[in-house]
Amino acid sequence: MADAAAIDALLARMTLAEKIGQLNLVTPGGDTLTGAVVNSDVAEKVRTGRIGSIFGVKSVAAARGFQTLALQSRLGIPLLFAEDVIHGHRTIFPLPIGLAASFDPDLIRRTARIAADEASACGIDQVYAPMVDVCRDPRWGRIAESPGEDPYLASRYAAAMVEGFQRDDLTRADAVMACLKHFAGYGAPAGGRDYAGADMSPARLHDVYLPPFRAGVAAGAGSVMAAFHALNGIPMHAHRRLIAGWLRDTLGFDGLLVADYTGVAELVAHHVAVDGAAAARLALGAGIDLDMVSELFLDTLEAAVAAGEIEEGLVDQACRRVLRAKARLGLLEDPFRRIDRDPAGQRLVTRANRRVARATVADCSVLLSNGAGLLPLSPRSTVALIGPLADDRVNMSGTWAVSSRPSDVVTIRAGIARALQGTGRLIHAKGCHLVEDAVLAARLNVHDGQEKSVPDDPRSAEALLEEALAAARRADVVVAVVGEAKDYSGEGASRLDLRLPAPQLRLLRALKASGRPLAVVVLTGRPLVLVEEAGLADALLVAWFPGTEAGNGLADVLFGEAEPAGRLPATFPFHEGQITVAYGEPPTGRPFRDRFEKFRTGYVDMPDRVPHDDGLFPFGFGLSYTRFAYGPARADRAVLRPGESVEVSVAVRNVGPRAGREVVQLYLSPPPGPIARPRLILRRFVKLQLRREAEAVARFRLSHADFAASAAETVGDAAEWVAPGPYRLLVGPHSRALHGVTVVVEPLPGPVRGL
Ligand code: NOJ
Repeated sequence: MADAAAIDALLARMTLAEKIGQLNLVTPGGDTLTGAVVNSDVAEKVRTGRIGSIFGVKSVAAARGFQTLALQSRLGIPLLFAEDVIHGHRTIFPLPIGLAASFDPDLIRRTARIAADEASACGIDQVYAPMVDVCRDPRWGRIAESPGEDPYLASRYAAAMVEGFQRDDLTRADAVMACLKHFAGYGAPAGGRDYAGADMSPARLHDVYLPPFRAGVAAGAGSVMAAFHALNGIPMHAHRRLIAGWLRDTLGFDGLLVADYTGVAELVAHHVAVDGAAAARLALGAGIDLDMVSELFLDTLEAAVAAGEIEEGLVDQACRRVLRAKARLGLLEDPFRRIDRDPAGQRLVTRANRRVARATVADCSVLLSNGAGLLPLSPRSTVALIGPLADDRVNMSGTWAVSSRPSDVVTIRAGIARALQGTGRLIHAKGCHLVEDAVLAARLNVHDGQEKSVPDDPRSAEALLEEALAAARRADVVVAVVGEAKDYSGEGASRLDLRLPAPQLRLLRALKASGRPLAVVVLTGRPLVLVEEAGLADALLVAWFPGTEAGNGLADVLFGEAEPAGRLPATFPFHEGQITVAYGEPPTGRPFRDRFEKFRTGYVDMPDRVPHDDGLFPFGFGLSYTRFAYGPARADRAVLRPGESVEVSVAVRNVGPRAGREVVQLYLSPPPGPIARPRLILRRFVKLQLRREAEAVARFRLSHADFAASAAETVGDAAEWVAPGPYRLLVGPHSRALHGVTVVVEPLPGPVRGL
């Protein structure tokens, strides 16, 4: 890898225009667009050194063509190729929110490694992932790409993804550079509307939204992408205090800071820059290195330097970081490192990759109810498989699977047919349309070409339902596969109403009335309001969007070859009106008791059976095909001083009928202090695999630093404190079923500023 001196020497030979060219990141467009604008004259700009990086190139041959042109530029600096590789490249794994539901960093790392392998085989150097935006608002469609509501789970997810993508050495031809996104607080848009601003206290930002970025940077992430929105009024593409300040100065992040799609130009619409030139100056000054698609750096920075409006040193700094990233990726030594040949078939969607994808479906699926042990089903049954997603390829990969191919997907129908082959019987019926509103259908199909996610189907609702009921009558059990179309979640896909679309709810009601046992599989990119569904279903399973191996993976779960081992990474609300909703919020002075007590927090129109400050299904929740019994929690010390650590342990026994996996969770419940902290804070978890009747002891070690919280007075302020006093250390299967021990934590020496 080129060392710092070599990079400085190269920089010294560059003209100002060439340096600015390195900061220009474009997309030539292609079959899958990820934004509304694409760049023109890409080839000519590459040849003349006016482009430094490209994303969205759809073939290795095309990348080789661009690279050959780049090498013809005066200094022959190679291009860097990037792509959105969010939950797999060609082999698609469950959505990120599903991967987070696995509570299994080893598994998450493995999926990222496979994605890196496939992406690098396709000529990609850098992936725009992982997305690590904590989100407590399921109206926001991008919760699908997010690791959910909890900063600790999101931090483990962030680190595992970075390690998987980048492997041990970024110069390896099968490693890719990770890009943590979207920096920062993008998961808290007002009203759940994508791109809307987020306003929050400094302590909330530091305790909830920034930890996964810190964890990803600590894991060595080579790049970070700025978010589209404004945080506390300052657009993130101009947020100098957080980018140049917290991220670079405090954390020591020395990698690339990438703008999001036209994010620099959008500073004008944000009303913080009068024109494109001012926007470019603001963004560069805040610490953005790569201008994605706007081309405002290219078009305006040279004149700004000449006019003395910005220092050339800022351009040098950004350019140095681009060259360093290229060096880290081995591109300065070998520009064709990842594009020397077309990907041989054995590197994409391989049998081995499919095997992992298939197993991952069970790891991520969350069983919300299983009345009378309906699941797993007997492979000797006659199964009526019903629902608009039961025989679907296009939707199975969910949002942000830009390189996926529907033809690779195993449909649920095919997977179940395989599982029943020779033993049982499968009857299939569509049952209803995915959505019935033609305008909504058109909106959901907006990104699709030939293969629509809401396909045209001239049959009437009545005819579809009749066929489904006839199928149900001939079956022992009904499996209904319902949910969102893939573009009902994802970017620019916020929703007001989080219930299943009306025709699907009607279908479930009718199936229930048929009297057959009803297992409902929900495919979704977000927590939904499943109140009625939970009442109708005898068993309710959330499988997110399961990816390439959807059918085989789900069949394994439904027939008990594997068990659903996911736990909710985000609360499933009782009603949209409670949003934002999450387990980890600070208490109020007037906690809820019952809704007839007037001056209490809560909702007059919400039943008391659901805690008014929590959802229908809480964070961390998920059933299994077996049962686990917890022993008492123990701590190996009663008092914890700075520099010390405490071990909390709990014995967990499998007391059910079969082997299974349990996610044992450890939460802190802090003592009173000057800043109210959440009632519960997840701090550790472990996934145990236990044979029938086997017992294991889950052990968690916490250091004094694990009790720290932000004491930030302003955004970007790194101050932390440890509230002294008795903490409850609580263990259990989810955030609403905990028991524990008390440990007294002593304060850090010295005063805490401002508290
Ligand atoms: C916009 C999205 O916000 C970002 O996540 C993505 O990486 C870029 N477009 C590039 O497609």
